[in-house]
Amino acid sequence: EKIVLAYSGGLDTSVILKWLKETYDAEIIAFTADIGQKEELDGLEAKALATGASKVYIDDLRAEFAQDFIYPMFQAGALYEGQYLLGTSIARPLIAKRMVDIAIAEGATAIAHGATGKGNDQVRFELGVAGLAPNIKVIAPWRLEEFRSQFPGRAEMIAYAEANGIPVQASAAKPYSMDRNLLHISYESGVLEDPWFDASAPENKEMFLLTNAPEDAPDEAEYIELEFLKGDCVALNGEPQTPLQVMEKLNELGGKHGIGRVDMVENRFVGMKSRGVYETPGGTILFTAHRKMESITMDREVMNVRDSLITRYSTLVYNGFWFAPERKAIQALVAESQQNVTGTVRLKLYKGNIIAAGVKSPVSLYNPNIATMEADPTQAYDQGDATGFIRLNALRLKVSAGVAESTELP
Ligand code: ARG
Ligand code: SIN
Repeated sequence: EKIVLAYSGGLDTSVILKWLKETYDAEIIAFTADIGQKEELDGLEAKALATGASKVYIDDLRAEFAQDFIYPMFQAGALYEGQYLLGTSIARPLIAKRMVDIAIAEGATAIAHGATGKGNDQVRFELGVAGLAPNIKVIAPWRLEEFRSQFPGRAEMIAYAEANGIPVQASAAKPYSMDRNLLHISYESGVLEDPWFDASAPENKEMFLLTNAPEDAPDEAEYIELEFLKGDCVALNGEPQTPLQVMEKLNELGGKHGIGRVDMVENRFVGMKSRGVYETPGGTILFTAHRKMESITMDREVMNVRDSLITRYSTLVYNGFWFAPERKAIQALVAESQQNVTGTVRLKLYKGNIIAAGVKSPVSLYNPNIATMEADPTQAYDQGDATGFIRLNALRLKVSAGVAESTELP
């Protein structure tokens, strides 16, 4: 039997690797996706092999992540519970997809992961696998009683690692857990479980890896220009960029100016509330710029229909339904809605703020001649028409107001 394990090289997945091999008497194929986590990927292959893997895949999926996952999600304007840009959520289906590809290529019968039984990630991995390869089994050790009783705490895992020759990092464990990729870093659990704990306090500064605190950001504002083509950012400050380059450059810029920190309590799919702190510097700039671009290029009713689906779409991504037919159907509508979202947005970055500083488009729907308070040379709008427009719209309001007051209509 062969099992493909989502492997990070950390204590949990190292212990899981060895445990799976012993428990199932299986060949373990370790898989690590490089999605921009910037963690130590060097030495990972040797470590996995030393821990007992029969084969190791370390795949650079950053370009695919940016182009096929982050970009389509940003076209949709996705935002979970009004604040979360879904940085972890959107990475999981990509990892699931690549694991399924490897499992099929290797003739493996199962996939394993180290997500806990209390979170969203287990759901996302497993719904991803279900949506792509219904016959592949999933093993989630943290949900197995025998695994949990063998490893009730970190001490047991460290002892097991030492007994099995698994190298354990000497670095002190952080008092919270992190998940990093090209789109964000999330911080959860540990000290953050108290929602009164002030993560923004100066003494907690060192937690944040991507962004300066707004109060430490440069005193000088910085202008940037983002060029959009059909809803996708294709150039920065006049230079063409791939989606991956856009994300990297915007992360740099946003980080410098203290942009994109969020601290919230969110609702997990499994039913509990959970406190999360996020840094999404580039994503926050992209999100804001994209909305600005749409403001002059998108038809009102198209925007209305697309916006009406944002909550639905965001929940699908959050809950792990990326490969579900309804997500794909909404995505097709979103893509159609972006056909005219082309032009340039200028923004000013300043101490945690993104300030609008201009927007233009060769296909703008904004017509100053029509909107102007001055004489309209196009004569497209006759102010007198508004009288009838308002009268007809007022009719049902007058009827119901009249019923409420039991008076006759005038
Ligand atoms: N709460 C966020 C989400 O559900 C972040 C999850 C972080 N995952 C992790 N394994 N640290 O998308
Ligand atoms: C986990 O439980 O493995 C991380 C948190 C989450 O998935 O929501």
